[in-house]
Amino acid sequence: MEKKNWSDLWLSYGKVTELGGARVLALDGLNAESRIIKSAVAELKRGLKGLADIELVTDGTVANSGEKITLIREPSIPKEGYEVVSSGGELKIKASDDNGILYGVFALLRHLAMGQSLESLNEKSSPSNPIRMMDHWDDMDGKIERGYSGDSFFFENDEIIVSDRIVDYARFMASIGINAVAINNVNVRGAATFLITDRFFSKVKEIQDIFADYGITLYLTINFASPIEIGGLETCDPLDEKVITWWKDKSKEIFEKLPGVGGYLVKADSEGRPGPFTYGRTQADGANMLADAVKPYDGIVIWRCFVYNCTQDWRDYKTDRARAGYDYFMEFDGAYRDNVILQIKNGPMDFQVREPVSPLLGGLKRTNQMLEVQIAQEYTGHQIDLFYLIPMYKEVLNFHTYCNEDCDTVADIISGKAMGNKNAGFAAVINTGNDYNWTGNDLAAVNLYGFGRLAYDTSLSAETIAREWVRLTFSMDRNSEDILVEMLLDSGKIYEKYTAPLGIGWMVTPHYHYGPSVDGYEYSRWGTYHRADHHAIGVDRTDKGTGYAQQYYKKNAEMYNDPDTCPEELLLFFHRVPYTRKLKSGKTLIQHIYDTHFDGAEEAKELAAKWDSIKNAVPSDVYERVAERFKLQIENANEWRDQINSYFYRKSDIPDEKGRKIY
Ligand code: GCU
Repeated sequence: MEKKNWSDLWLSYGKVTELGGARVLALDGLNAESRIIKSAVAELKRGLKGLADIELVTDGTVANSGEKITLIREPSIPKEGYEVVSSGGELKIKASDDNGILYGVFALLRHLAMGQSLESLNEKSSPSNPIRMMDHWDDMDGKIERGYSGDSFFFENDEIIVSDRIVDYARFMASIGINAVAINNVNVRGAATFLITDRFFSKVKEIQDIFADYGITLYLTINFASPIEIGGLETCDPLDEKVITWWKDKSKEIFEKLPGVGGYLVKADSEGRPGPFTYGRTQADGANMLADAVKPYDGIVIWRCFVYNCTQDWRDYKTDRARAGYDYFMEFDGAYRDNVILQIKNGPMDFQVREPVSPLLGGLKRTNQMLEVQIAQEYTGHQIDLFYLIPMYKEVLNFHTYCNEDCDTVADIISGKAMGNKNAGFAAVINTGNDYNWTGNDLAAVNLYGFGRLAYDTSLSAETIAREWVRLTFSMDRNSEDILVEMLLDSGKIYEKYTAPLGIGWMVTPHYHYGPSVDGYEYSRWGTYHRADHHAIGVDRTDKGTGYAQQYYKKNAEMYNDPDTCPEELLLFFHRVPYTRKLKSGKTLIQHIYDTHFDGAEEAKELAAKWDSIKNAVPSDVYERVAERFKLQIENANEWRDQINSYFYRKSDIPDEKGRKIY
């Protein structure tokens, strides 16, 4: 093993209890030579040793059952699920497949690390979502698009680097139930186009093998124009016979060189990437052509729905970017192959702090769907500002789409329950890099941990997940733990308060996406306008406006269409509202903007103070790194407060009732 210069995150396995002695491992119905079982056994050994000073021995006689841990194949347990039970002192981990055993081992170690007694263990769990995926936006030059934690640990100078860090990465992912990873950026350019050629196959295979040891399927993000850029063809038209043949041959080669690869993730016709539209074809034509090519190998095509016009004229009031996903994809509901999954961002715009749930989710009724969220904090504070994202994801998962009479939430759709399909799941744009602590801000690791846990079990609460992460990461007293959990749970609301108000979104520094720039996107081509004038702000997306609200099923469409029933936190997403409108609190809109911004900036300071109050409960290097970030967060929050408040004061000419300082 290389000398480590990276943290062990939540798998540090520091001693929590001194049980000591030996336990004998037995396998029942499992193949000891399976790569995943080997990993499970190695992890169990390592964890028991570190956490409780227990030696796990694989040979030896069992003095009594209390000294035995058995890994058992139990066919009745759902796919990738597990049971961890202690009976008569004997510990049993049961599953119907190897992944389930591995997850059961991690569950056992999690309980031990959480300080729970092994004697009373009885946990049954199985994954809510069939595919639980991390999408890396790593480029082959080593940079990470929207990366806030250093550079890539997969790529450097257009080469693949294979290191022990990837082994630890795979362990972390398996420990939270991730079973799929795409290693390269959705924007496939330059060397990355050649990941599906001999130039890189052998190195990709090395990463694939590491992943396979931990039950993780590797996916590759492909360039839709590969037939031109690699194959020397003049077109990548998905209906052209030569193109079809090229992808069939290429897929055969890929699946031969990388047996077990999951398939392709595709960003097409989006933000300058090539795609079927160039040839007058549909998104379904493109996705289905690739799906047919990978079908013989049980491959899957994950096709992203982030398709919109990014060369809009700001003077154009008719085009509404929010409508785009639905407008492009709904028409072909039912026309996508069984092995195509449409990957849909949680909101119709782009990972803003507050957006409604995309109407495509559940709008589609005969198409496989996957939810895409972003734990990389592109619009949510760059892993400088604290933003625990799991509460936001819970809201998305619990949203009733009304696509069925019951079984209609986003969680029901992406689990495959709503449509009875197996190709479905939950994906996140990951927040890791080669920084010592993996996630830039040590506290941002809670989103990495939390996404995996939530994807495996969508019924877990945001608080449960936060508490698990805190306890597994830091061994702190209960009072400090409570403080940190509370900080995490409050963090998203605080950030929302001091940034763009009530779902209007954007107002960020263009391209970079950190810090305020109220009009930064107002006169640009990206379709993200707030249209503030002297009287009012917001885009009318009702039936009298762009009609976006009508993309939802009736109940939601009606709710959003009426400013009185529209959830207030989304008021400015759906409506154009005068500054003088009274909100439910009795305050005017403008006063609400002032108050939330003054409060939010104040609460950012309080977060920093709370961190100081638990200084002695965390390692000093962690304290320092995070304290440094809170300093920056306070500056950022002040900047947002002053720019937003000044902007709206100058537009509206309405003073703050409380007479606070506005510039
Ligand atoms: C956002 C982000 C881009 C990214 C894109 C995507 O627009 O800023 O960096 O490529 O989303 O999801 O494809």
